[in-house]
Order: sequence, then structure tokens, then C-alpha cells
Amino acid sequence: MSDPDPAVVQRALTRERARRAKAEQLLEDKSRELFMSYQTLQESHDQLGAAMEEVKRQQKQLVQSEKLASLGTMSAGVAHEINNPLAFVFSNVNSLAHAVDQFRQYHQHVGALLLAESPAQSAEATGALKEFVEEADVEFLFEDCGDLLSETIDGIQRVKSIVAGLKAFARSDAGEMEPVDLIACIRNTLKLAHNQIKFNMEVVEDFDDLPEIRGYPGKLSQVFLNLIVNAGQAMEGTGSIKISARNLKDVIQVDFQDTGAGMSAETIKDIFNPFFTTKPVGEGTGLGLSISHGIIEEHAGEITVSSELGVGTCFSIILPKNEMRAAA
Ligand SMILES: Nc1ncnc2c1ncn2[C@@H]1O[C@H](COP(=O)(O)OP(=O)(O)OP(=O)(O)O)[C@@H](O)[C@H]1O
Ligand SMILES: [Mg+2]
Repeated sequence: MSDPDPAVVQRALTRERARRAKAEQLLEDKSRELFMSYQTLQESHDQLGAAMEEVKRQQKQLVQSEKLASLGTMSAGVAHEINNPLAFVFSNVNSLAHAVDQFRQYHQHVGALLLAESPAQSAEATGALKEFVEEADVEFLFEDCGDLLSETIDGIQRVKSIVAGLKAFARSDAGEMEPVDLIACIRNTLKLAHNQIKFNMEVVEDFDDLPEIRGYPGKLSQVFLNLIVNAGQAMEGTGSIKISARNLKDVIQVDFQDTGAGMSAETIKDIFNPFFTTKPVGEGTGLGLSISHGIIEEHAGEITVSSELGVGTCFSIILPKNEMRAAA
């Protein structure tokens, strides 16, 4: 076998080198392209993350503004609820001030009698005391003061509890979940809604003893308020809402069963969508149920509805008892 022609070998080598250089160039171009795509992807990912954060922030804001809107609607009613007891507390305190003045005079008459230095003075003081006791009806005053005081304390308690209710409702519930007494939360909400529903809807309560669950009391109150107000607005004339709470094995079930107008299947399909409302402009924003749905999901729970036109509607809320699941 003869040796290969060096010129041929050289050409083959050069061709091979050129092929390799081309391949390397291609590889480098592809790597650069890949790197650029990766960077673009990373940027899009960051943008998406920022957008998600923004959506979350806006959702939180929406929940808070819906709450403030219902606070606005409630405020006239709540003011009325506070004004009523305040009016009689004011009048009672005036009566008590008058009674204190009478007791001061009574005390002066008794003092004059005790300090009498002669039978004549004593007789005169006794006469004056008797006359005063009859005129001022001191016995009645003593009795009346007891009633006035207990009514006043009662009125102040009512104002106190409604203000506490408002505070609990208005809180933004940022941070950790806390133990919630659902029955207290429902009753508190009923107090706030009282003025809005008292003329057209009777409330029937049927509560089991419930364990506390972990949750956000202000947000849960927001859900309950929306369901109660919705039921009131669905009444044709007058009707009732039965609120029942069942202590089941792993969950608590709270039902809001009303005797309102009910809903068609067509309406039910949309009620949890934001801004869906059948109410006239200015009466409903259509956010109540979509926000309620979000809040119940946040508590690892479920909200469902069943309704029949002309019969009524029942919203059921299921909340887990298990603290860890609720916290998760
Ligand atoms: N208990 C109910 N009975 C009959 N229809 C109801 C009841 N609850 C809700 N709906 C229907 O669902 C719709 C949406 O309710 P949602 O609470 O989300 O909004 P809204 O009450 O219309 O307005 P908002 O709560 O924002 O003031 C209502 O407009 C109504 O048509
Ligand atoms: Mg509503």
C-alpha cells in the first residue's frame, strides 16, 4: 500500500477543521440563543410574579372596600341602634340627678330632726320631714332609682356591644388566624344587621354547641352579614330566615334558610361571579357572594346554595373543625 498523498490529507484535515469550526459556531449561537430565551423567560416569570402579587393586593383591597361599603349602608341603622339606648340613658340620668337632689333635701330634713335641741324644734322638724316625704314621694324615689339604674346599665351594655360588634366587623384581619366562636360571631352580625332587617324578616336561631375554629372573625362576620342582608332583600313582603349551626363529625355546617323569592337555575349559575347582581344600580355591587366565596375558601371551607323560585333559598357553609387544616 502506498503512502497517502500529503496534499490530499492536508485538504481533508482543513475540511474537517472548517466543519468543526462551523459546528462549534453553531453550538455557540444556539447556546447564546438559549441563554437569551432563558433570560426572556426569567423576565416574564418575574413580571408574572409581580402581576400575581398585584392581583392578590387588589383582591385584599376589594374585600376591605366591600366591607367598608356595607359598613356605609349599615351606618344609619347602627346609629339608630346606638341612639335609642342613648336617648333613654340620657333621660334616666336626668331623673337620677333629680332623685339625688331630693335625697340631699331628705338628708337635710333628717339632719335637722337629729340636731333638734328642744321638743318644739323636734316637733317642727318632724312635721317638715313628714311633709317632704309625702310631697317628694321618697319611697317611690327609692324604688324608681333601682329601676332607673338597671335600665341605664342595660342601655350602656347595648351600646357597648354594638360598638364592639362594629369594631370586630371593621377589622382588616391581617395576620394570623385566631380562635373564633361562630355563634358569637353570627349573633354579633345579627345585631349589626338588626335595623336593616327588623321590619321584614324574622330571625330564627337553631344552634348546636360548637367548638371554636381557627379563622378570621371580621371576615366571617362579613360573609354572615352578606347572607343575612341578601335574604332580607329577597323577601317579597315579610318572611323569615332560619340560621342553624350543626356540630358534625369533622366539620361545622351553618345554614341560612330564607323564605324569600328564590332564584332560577339561570341566576344560581352566576351568583358567585364578581359583579353579578340582579339588584338595581346603587343597591347592589354584586361583590357580596364572590367575596364571601373567597373568604370561605381561605378558611378551607365550602359554600353552596340550593334555591327554589317562590319558596326560598338556603346557603350552606361548611367549615373544617380541624385546626391544622383551617390554619393551612
Ligand atoms: N337569599 C337570596 N335569595 C334570592 N336571591 C339571592 C339571594 N342571595 C343572593 N341572591 C342573588 O345573587 C345575586 C348576587 O348576590 P351578591 O350578594 O353577590 O350581590 P348583591 O347582593 O347583588 O350586591 P352586594 O352584595 O354587592 O351589595 C343577587 O343580586 C341576587 O340576585
Ligand atoms: Mg349581597
